[in-house]
Amino acid sequence: MAPRALIFLLFIFSAVKYVEGASPSSNACTGDISSLDDVSAAVKCTTVNIHSFTVPAGKTFNLALVSGATVNMVNGNGHTFNGNGPFYWVHNLVQLMIISMSIYLPQDGLGGNGGVTKPAPMMKIKISGTFTNVKVLNSPARVYSISNPEPLLMSNLTIDDSLGDQPNAASNGKAAGHNTDGFDVSTQNLVIQDSVIMNQDDCLAINKGSNITFQRNTCSGGHGISVGSISSGATVSDVSISDNFIVNNDQALRIKTKATATDASVSGVTYSGNTAMGMRQFGVLIDQSYPDTLGTPGDGCIVSDINFLGTLNKIAVNSDAQQVAVNCGEGSCTGSWDWSALEVSGGTPGEIVNFNGIQGFSQ
Ligand SMILES: *[C@@H]1O[C@H](CO)[C@@H](O)[C@H](O)[C@H]1NC(C)=O
Ligand SMILES: *[C@@H]1O[C@H](CO)[C@@H](O)[C@H](O)[C@H]1NC(C)=O
Repeated sequence: MAPRALIFLLFIFSAVKYVEGASPSSNACTGDISSLDDVSAAVKCTTVNIHSFTVPAGKTFNLALVSGATVNMVNGNGHTFNGNGPFYWVHNLVQLMIISMSIYLPQDGLGGNGGVTKPAPMMKIKISGTFTNVKVLNSPARVYSISNPEPLLMSNLTIDDSLGDQPNAASNGKAAGHNTDGFDVSTQNLVIQDSVIMNQDDCLAINKGSNITFQRNTCSGGHGISVGSISSGATVSDVSISDNFIVNNDQALRIKTKATATDASVSGVTYSGNTAMGMRQFGVLIDQSYPDTLGTPGDGCIVSDINFLGTLNKIAVNSDAQQVAVNCGEGSCTGSWDWSALEVSGGTPGEIVNFNGIQGFSQ
């Protein structure tokens, strides 16, 4: 068998911060990119057009843009970044350097947990302004990692990893796609809206940050909309999760803090107008025992001000799922939480451990 190159593709969008006195008009040209060779000249322009091309094996497509730049995708297979996921889902490359020979074993079906490094994140976004109307197909593992220097609006995006729902020979009947988080967020002043995410892991995962809005998105097939997992020293505050539609996920809405976390906090998370159907494990899960589920909780992450307010959140869980489970450490969930705009149907009630501050909701 001929050795196949492992294709690394990581798309990085970044912009230099606006420099006082710099003259954008001096860059008022259009740069066209049809291969990586074109990138260094094109990024000097305020308009950059990306044409259809393949990022070669082992290379990163890095766009270090000037302030105020607009990037367009033209002739780009319907404006799609194709992550070539099935290659990674279907082959676990084990390079045994025995007499310069490469051997390919069947796929691991384990994403980032598999034996082989997969390009992750696939899309690193380091711009402010707007990022809109972009489709990502078949990411090898995690899709977007976002660290915007100033406010950023991400809208009308599509992540279609639905092909990864199918099992393959090595995935023991489970989905071949794995660790395909839609948006991994450790930032502030970010809005993600009007987007569709079809994957096998978190639709959104907020690891730390503040002033983050996630609204009018559709999440299909994955692990729901998550705050966390929260590690030691991480703080999350001022998060709004509203008017999203969540279908066939493990859980709809989750806060997960690591059992080992210390000096961490989650505060000010508001859920409004979210609708969920076909939840496989939980409707709402707040769990301080991550990575275990409903294991022994830690108490080093203080969770406060978690509310379901405004438009009713309507969540339907499968018959073998739990409606709401809250697993707090001793004294680490605090204050009074208003859950009057939460309605969960189906399944069985879950347990609420170490906390009696939930108002306006019972199961
Ligand atoms: C984004 O989607 C929303 C809702 O579907 C639509 O109203 C809006 O026009 C779209 N915006 C762009 C820039 O395509
Ligand atoms: C919150 O983020 C939005 C953009 O997402 C920004 O316009 C707004 O100024 C931010 N609010 C604060 C208090 O920083």
